[in-house]
Amino acid sequence: MNRTWWKEAVIYQIYPRSFMDSNGDGIGDIKGITSRLDYLKYLGVDVLWLSPIYQSPNDDNGYDISDYQAIMEEFGTMADFDEMLSEAHKRGLRVVMDLVVNHTSDEHRWFMESRKSTENEYRDYYIWREGKDAKTPPNNWGSCFGGSAWQYDEQTAMYYLHLFSRKQPDLNWDNPKVRKEVFDMMTWWCDKGIDGFRMDVISMISKTKDMPDGPITDFYGDYSPYCVHGPNIHKYLQEMNEKVLSRYDIMTVGETPGVTTELAKQYAGEDTHELNMVFQFEHVDNHGKYGKWDAQKWQLTKLKQILNRWQVDLYGKAWNSLFWDNHDQPRAVSRFGDDRPRYRELSAKMLATCLHMMQGSPYIYQGEELGMTNYPFQSPEEFHDIESINAYQEWCLSGEVSHEDFWPCITARSRDNARTPVQWDDSAQAGFTTGTPWIAVNPNYKEINAKAETEDPDSVFHYYKKLIALRKANPIMVYGKYEPLMEDSEELFVYTRTLDDVKLLTVCNFTDRRISFSIPEEFVGKSCLIANMENDYSKKELTLRPYEAFVLI
Ligand code: GLC
Ligand code: CA
Repeated sequence: MNRTWWKEAVIYQIYPRSFMDSNGDGIGDIKGITSRLDYLKYLGVDVLWLSPIYQSPNDDNGYDISDYQAIMEEFGTMADFDEMLSEAHKRGLRVVMDLVVNHTSDEHRWFMESRKSTENEYRDYYIWREGKDAKTPPNNWGSCFGGSAWQYDEQTAMYYLHLFSRKQPDLNWDNPKVRKEVFDMMTWWCDKGIDGFRMDVISMISKTKDMPDGPITDFYGDYSPYCVHGPNIHKYLQEMNEKVLSRYDIMTVGETPGVTTELAKQYAGEDTHELNMVFQFEHVDNHGKYGKWDAQKWQLTKLKQILNRWQVDLYGKAWNSLFWDNHDQPRAVSRFGDDRPRYRELSAKMLATCLHMMQGSPYIYQGEELGMTNYPFQSPEEFHDIESINAYQEWCLSGEVSHEDFWPCITARSRDNARTPVQWDDSAQAGFTTGTPWIAVNPNYKEINAKAETEDPDSVFHYYKKLIALRKANPIMVYGKYEPLMEDSEELFVYTRTLDDVKLLTVCNFTDRRISFSIPEEFVGKSCLIANMENDYSKKELTLRPYEAFVLI
């Protein structure tokens, strides 16, 4: 297996709107990021991934871009960006940009031209079709944010495709001019000195030309093969690799909804010349009767089955990302751990142990290193996210489900949980802004904040810092071969890693109960690499306490 810097890197995701506000307007910005680079350096991460900072009307918080080469005014200027980039580089931090090219904003110049007439030179930049008749869209595809994926446009009496909101028309990747525009734009950013791209829903850029009807579900993986892993997806990524990516020493990660381990070997194979790694969702896609809106926890054996399969199948063949949460997911500790005050820190550390000891590049979503929790929503008026707002409308206001039934589900999974401001200290608005934040601060900021945690050597923050440092010192964490143990246990997540003659054992108690565990013979008396509480590993028989986690080597 090739050794590369991006396999060894720990990535920290910044959601700029909620990270740090520098000018009191309540919106996080680029200068705010620059002001916190020392904190990130101290944590020890290698790469910063910035969610979109480009010009955007913000229908989907920047994932609807109206100019790929301009900075969103609320976030600052290009000069602020250049300064941030150079300050990051001074500290040895790399910067990866979000690349959102499945769609643009409907306010992008290309789309404003495209919709003018069927003859316009930009017409074919987007996907236009006649309706089945005046009132029926070309097919039954649903948008990931609810409703039809087609929007009727009066100017030319045709429909355009939008797999997300109607303000996010899909680009037509079959048009070579579109590919050239995108590749030129990427080259422009690379020449500026950025260190890579996180590619938004990149598995969706190629669509089946004849666009047949498909099953309508709320999960976009299910549209496959019509618009996920479409017919030319690998061709286009190889072309992108040849024309742009291979010319720079950069990191690329493809957000690939619906990907399987087989497909990942193509998207992010050791020598398939597409992307460096995939970002896949199987382990966070537990669905219930209301689709993704579900408050149930995974059964541990199911969760392990998925994560173990990704570990084993990709070994030596392809590279994966490791994450529990991001800007589209609820907070890790609330979802996979236990955010009751008694167990919050322990379970956050347990989850971090479990993930960082696996193979893949770990991603830390802002605030995860503090053990930040889901937000205690009181009413639907508190939602800012288009997905939550539409879902509440579609399921509840339509009368399909009662508020009582749906409320625990939507609050458990709303993307807004991850989007509340980073809690920096215990001053007003958690030190995020001197003004009124665009989205409410979680009221638990007095107890959970960066200032308190950086000062406390036993904090979740210091535990993450230690895990990151361990990765630098122990190549086994990056390159070791993974082997699952105790696959049938509903309580414990246990696995080993092996590199040459070194072997490591990870043991995590996912419950709030005491569980007995006998250490495999070869690890009895070995030394402890990291643990979230003390225990005596010279004994074979142990009683693990709630959320206990340790690593022996
Ligand atoms: C990705 C992004 C998400 C966005 C969507 C549309 O899934 O992570 O935030 O809403 O793509 O761009
Ligand atoms: Ca601001």
